[in-house]
Amino acid sequence: MKKIAVLGAGLCGATAAATLTQQGYQVTVFDKGRAAGGRMSSKRTDQGYLDMGAQYFTARSDVFKQQVKVWLDAGRAEIWPCKTALLSNDEGFISLKASEDEQARFVGVPSMQSPVTALLHGITQVNSCRIQKLDYQWQSWTLFNDEGLSYTGFAAVLLTLPPAQAKQLLAQSLLPALFDTAADILEPCWAVALQTQGAAAQDAIFCQHPKLRFISHQQHKTGRNPCYILHFNASFSALHLQQSTEFWFAEAIAILRQELNIQQEITPLVAHRWLYASQKDQVAAPGLIALPEQQLWAGGDWSYGGRVENAYLAGLNLANALIEQNKSQQETP
Ligand code: FAD
Ligand code: NAI
Repeated sequence: MKKIAVLGAGLCGATAAATLTQQGYQVTVFDKGRAAGGRMSSKRTDQGYLDMGAQYFTARSDVFKQQVKVWLDAGRAEIWPCKTALLSNDEGFISLKASEDEQARFVGVPSMQSPVTALLHGITQVNSCRIQKLDYQWQSWTLFNDEGLSYTGFAAVLLTLPPAQAKQLLAQSLLPALFDTAADILEPCWAVALQTQGAAAQDAIFCQHPKLRFISHQQHKTGRNPCYILHFNASFSALHLQQSTEFWFAEAIAILRQELNIQQEITPLVAHRWLYASQKDQVAAPGLIALPEQQLWAGGDWSYGGRVENAYLAGLNLANALIEQNKSQQETP
């Protein structure tokens, strides 16, 4: 049975790992985080989870629709009954407008990472393990982490890290620079959670705002702390990337007061910085990246344009690329 190392326990890595495990491969998933989920991670609080990363997902392809149905049937996901609105910007005049639609939007239950955790059930995971170097000798990969531990004997490696982190890993491993053009494809996002009393009029507010990208309220998500989550846009997040959480709390409170006219007390909960959050509009998605002779493939949401669904499709395609390569090697006389 071939041993495969999957780096990254986000949805892409979990999907690749589950697909390969079903095909009889022996998979180990490594992640620098304490738990699986990646950018689909919620933070646990005494009042319920806070979705600091992805707020919801949509399903457009048949293959992802089928997977979402599996999660719905297993109680690992639910439809988010969200009331949508638009914070519109008409030549600098910002106003909140009704913008309801019929789009089905899904969330994990009881937290955003639940679908990822479900895929990884029964698969060996090594968490809190930042891989910082790879070595390929005699058709076998060895992985080294930042605490000096090594993991050896892998026939193939799948990298599902954000491209900038994958590029750094390849450079430290003296492997070819596969990520030169794709490395800067993901932009940052500061996410801020804030508590207010009472219900919110909307659950999902798309923002054409100089600072903001999205305002979400968690009141209609099972298992969540019912509060606001604000996602700042990439340019404002990048401009103030190193600012303290106090700066971000102050910005978020000012926006809730000014744009949503919230008068009651607002309590700051959490501010989280994502260095690699969302796809740059102006950069074309590069697809999967590969060193097939050395059995190394790389992919993630960024391969196909960001979004949860694209992370899933990248995971499937990574696993299938590896399976196809192995089939053709077996068939070669
Ligand atoms: P990731 O989830 O980033 O997984 C990569 C994993 O690699 C991480 O767990 C990381 O810890 C690990 N890793 C990195 N370096 C190393 C290393 N050296 N060693 C070991 N492990 C390592 N999408 C939507 O569809 N809807 C939304 O509403 C939405 N909102 C978003 C809001 C925010 C704030 C963010 C940040 C993202 C949002 N997205 C949304 C995007 C969505 O979250 C991603 O498309 C998807 O989760 C990416 O999955 P992935 O597996 O490709 O990558
Ligand atoms: P979707 O179809 O709900 O939204 C796609 C885009 O269409 C939205 O970003 C918005 O611009 C527009 N839109 C949709 N419904 C709208 C409505 N009712 N009123 C006004 N505008 C509307 O979901 P999809 O395509 O699955 O996208 C995922 C979401 O994830 C997007 O909202 C995207 O912005 C968000 N995202 C956020 C990231 C971050 O860093 N904060 C990173 C990656 C994705």
